[in-house]
Parts: sequence; C-alpha cells; structure tokens
Amino acid sequence: MTIELIETRASDLHKLQIGANRICDCPPNHLNCMTPKEWMKSQIGVWQFNYERRDVRDRKIHPATFPISLARKVIELFTHKGELVLDPFVGSGTTLVAAGDCERNAVGFDLKDEYITSSNNRLSKLLPPEKVQQLAICDDARNIPHYLEENSVSLIFTSPPYANLLNRKRLNKSRRGDERKNGQYLKVEQYSQDVRDLGTLSLESYASEMAGIFAGLLPIMRTRAHCVINVPDMWWEDKRITIHMALVDSLRQVGYELRNIIIWDRTNIVNRIGIFGWPRNYITMGTTFEYLLDFWKPSTV
Ligand SMILES: C[S@@+](CC[C@H](N)C(=O)[O-])C[C@H]1O[C@@H](n2cnc3c(N)ncnc32)[C@H](O)[C@@H]1O
Repeated sequence: MTIELIETRASDLHKLQIGANRICDCPPNHLNCMTPKEWMKSQIGVWQFNYERRDVRDRKIHPATFPISLARKVIELFTHKGELVLDPFVGSGTTLVAAGDCERNAVGFDLKDEYITSSNNRLSKLLPPEKVQQLAICDDARNIPHYLEENSVSLIFTSPPYANLLNRKRLNKSRRGDERKNGQYLKVEQYSQDVRDLGTLSLESYASEMAGIFAGLLPIMRTRAHCVINVPDMWWEDKRITIHMALVDSLRQVGYELRNIIIWDRTNIVNRIGIFGWPRNYITMGTTFEYLLDFWKPSTV
C-alpha cells in the first residue's frame, strides 16, 4: 500500500503542467467551435491545401513535413479552443505551430534533438502565448503516457514514420532525365538509425510497435477524442506497401474505432511528374494523394 502511494507521487512529478480544458463558451455537446456553415464545408471527404511561407519545405531541415493548413483543419475540426492536442511524432513542429495559430494547447514528441530545436525555433516566431502553450519534447513516443494526465488529450494528430520505406537510397523515379539526379538522388532520407526509431522497422514490426504505442495512449485520451493519422502507401520493387491498412489493423486491434478515411489530394502541390509503369502496369502516383485515417476512442474502452 505504502509503496503504491510513493510510486503514484513519483510519476505525478513527471506530469506536464499544461492546460487541457476549453476556453470557449461553446455548448458542452459540440465537437468543435465551428459554425454550421464551416461544418458543412468540412464534410467533403477529399481535402486540398497550399503551403505558406512558414511551412518547412527544405528536406535538409526535415524530409517529410505536412502543411500547417492541414494540421489547422484537423485541429479546428476535432477540438475546442484551449483543449489539448498531442503529436507523438512531431518532426519539425508543424502541429504545434497550427495549434498556436488556433489557440489550442499542444505537446509534441520526437526522438531527434535537432527536430525539437527546429520546432522550438518555429514556436518562438508565434505571438507570445497568453492562455495556451505549445511544447516540444525530445523523447520516445513510447514514454508519452508518463507525461500526460489520464483523460486529458482531446486530439492526437500525427504523421508517423512509414516503417522502413525511407530507409533506403532514393531513386527519384518521379523525375525525368537529368532531373532524376538532383540533390536527393541516392540519398537515404530516414530520420535516424536509432533502434527506437520506427522508421528502421520492417512493416510487420512497425505495425506491432505502433499498436503498442497507441494502446498506451488510449488512457490519456478523452472518450470520443479523435486520433488522426496521416500516411501514404508506397511502392517498393513493384509491390504496393499498404501502410494505411497495417495501421487500421493495428489501431483497431487495441481498441480504436475507425470513423473516416479522408483523402489528402496533393495534385495542386505536385509539379513535376515522370511516367510510371507505362506501357504495362497501371500505378497511381503515391505523391498525388495521402490518407488521413480518423479514429476515435470509443466509450466502451
Ligand atoms: C513523418 S515525420 C513527422 C513530420 C511532421 N509531421 C512535420 O510536419 O514536421 C515522423 C517523425 O517521427 C520521429 N520518430 C521516429 N521514431 C520515433 C519514436 N519512437 N518516438 C518519437 N519520434 C519518433 C522521426 O524523428 C520523425 O521526425
């Protein structure tokens, strides 16, 4: 009994002091602060975004970022002002910047120190926080439950590593002629070779590690809190690697319910395309769309 008490206190010491409650005056049963008109526009299941000046598009800073406008849309759809957003694989901090823009508390984790520095640089350019804060923490996503209170997170939004599919030499097949041999040609764009990095794992081990990590996050989520995961599928040696299906299976296995699959249509931001598969194999270009897998924590968990 005494030992249990001491352990509880010790783990409480590590809990982050960060707000998680609404600062708006929306009716309690509303999912977000949207007007009916804004809600109606969001019902379209195919989304497009443009980059803005603050977006990180330099692959040397981070090889796999999403636009701030994408993170903002997900945050505005699934949270109220003041609520807590979590990004377990925060990279260059895009989710945190979007959370700052729309007055949400947010915390993001990444294994790599340099990405946390880049997140903090971006956060330092936001208006000084008044009622909400955004934090970037260098740690393994497996440790997140130690940092956050139970039932505190209203949204998880993230783009995780894509198993080990970036952990190989880039052939730039999407470019033509000399363009193929640009700065990324034959580069390995994997984030790190740290054994804890999910980008070093085969698809099978990745799916099982992701199941473990997301099972660990369920207790810190509020009931019916959404968890939105952005991933593409990829092609490797003429085989489609269905990362999105592996993730749906993994999260369902541990108790998440899949609510929606939204397509992020990237055709407006992809400018140079080569020819794939012609004349025998029809292959949709992976760079033209990605999946946004929208799960929630059901009330039965
Ligand atoms: C696709 S990127 C996220 C990019 C981010 N959405 C952005 O806009 O910058 C995935 C990130 O997961 C991180 N990562 C890989 N394994 C991790 C782990 N076990 N714990 C925390 N972060 C990890 C990588 O360092 C990488 O930055």
